[in-house]
Amino acid sequence: MLSGKTVLIGITGGIAAYKICELIRMYKRANADVLVVCTPNALNFVTKLTLQNLSKNPVAVEEFEVNNFNPEHISYADRADIMVIAPATANTISKIATGVCDNLLTSIACAFTKPVIIAPAMNCNMWDNPLISENLGKLHYEILEPESGYLACGYEGKGRLCSLDKIFDKTVEILKCKPLNGKKIVITCGGTIEDIDPVRYISNYSSGKMGLALADVAKNLGADVTLVTTKDVSRKYNVVEVKSALEMKNAVEQEFENSDCIIMAAAVADYRVKEISEQKIKKTKDDEITLTLVKNPDILKEISMKKTSQIVVGFCAESENLIENAKEKISKKGCDYLIANDISRKDIGFSSDYNEVTILDKNGGMKKLERADKRTIARKIFEEIYG
Ligand code: CTP
Repeated sequence: MLSGKTVLIGITGGIAAYKICELIRMYKRANADVLVVCTPNALNFVTKLTLQNLSKNPVAVEEFEVNNFNPEHISYADRADIMVIAPATANTISKIATGVCDNLLTSIACAFTKPVIIAPAMNCNMWDNPLISENLGKLHYEILEPESGYLACGYEGKGRLCSLDKIFDKTVEILKCKPLNGKKIVITCGGTIEDIDPVRYISNYSSGKMGLALADVAKNLGADVTLVTTKDVSRKYNVVEVKSALEMKNAVEQEFENSDCIIMAAAVADYRVKEISEQKIKKTKDDEITLTLVKNPDILKEISMKKTSQIVVGFCAESENLIENAKEKISKKGCDYLIANDISRKDIGFSSDYNEVTILDKNGGMKKLERADKRTIARKIFEEIYG
């Protein structure tokens, strides 16, 4: 995702400095070249050796540690496409805001002319101090505000470093990396609606949030996106609204032919009512009523059989024996990948903004993605599919 890009990470002296080790790995996994500059205080929380090993580059701390004939603050500022200052302490924020250049990091920041992301982290009372807000307001940077929660200093409040995914996503967005440029991706979303009569229907609890997150992320990564959806959404990409499984099948078949990848995130009803009543079904004196249901086509299975070079991805909603059922499903359906999620948990899945999934591939490979917001999960799914 970040091939050919150089990210300069500036680490300052806060407890969240240790988290930046993982951020470096995320950038490296995305093929970025990573340069690291630390304030001397940052090294109280994380070692130079660790940062060097992870970034595969020397870590700069002191000014005038000359390795070549260029002043480091200028050469670092020239080499990087973006600077990410995380965690940013109140001290460093205030120094940069007032033009103080008393260490290598602040000097680089002062000389840096390209985009800068700053992710502050500090005690909540420091965050609430108007002087810090005023100084932060002077920076024409992309500010990723801290999150609320338990702080290392023992307080509870706003001050925790924002999630690393947020920092990573913002970097990709700012650098306008478009690894999916030229790819046409079809995504289905929402639960299908199977009519019984003019006022009643059979459906399911799917919120469509996962499909929507996949479509938004694919669009941001440069894909030409078509969303086939049962939910009413307004987006700046091609949206095809459908209702029933049969309508979804028709739309998917039309879009599939000239697509590169299709992701069936929709919860398609397995059965529909055999005969939809044209009039509202009236209550009778009987205590029971029987509806005859007939099987819907399995859209995922059908397109997997028809596919040529396309990548076909299915979802797998299970309330028990997740991996066992998912393995059986991927071989039965014949798709390239299957994203398995446990719908019995309330903290992930259906109507939640979060998910935790396992990606299975047709060769028997498996990868678990830890609980994260659905956009992050979506980004990781594309990373897995398109490397
Ligand atoms: N799917 C489909 N057509 C159907 C049913 C499901 O295309 N008639 C797709 C879904 O969009 C999803 C995958 O198949 O990508 C798996 O759906 P899931 O509901 O988990 O499994 P089912 O095939 O419906 O099997 P079961 O309900 O027995 O678990």
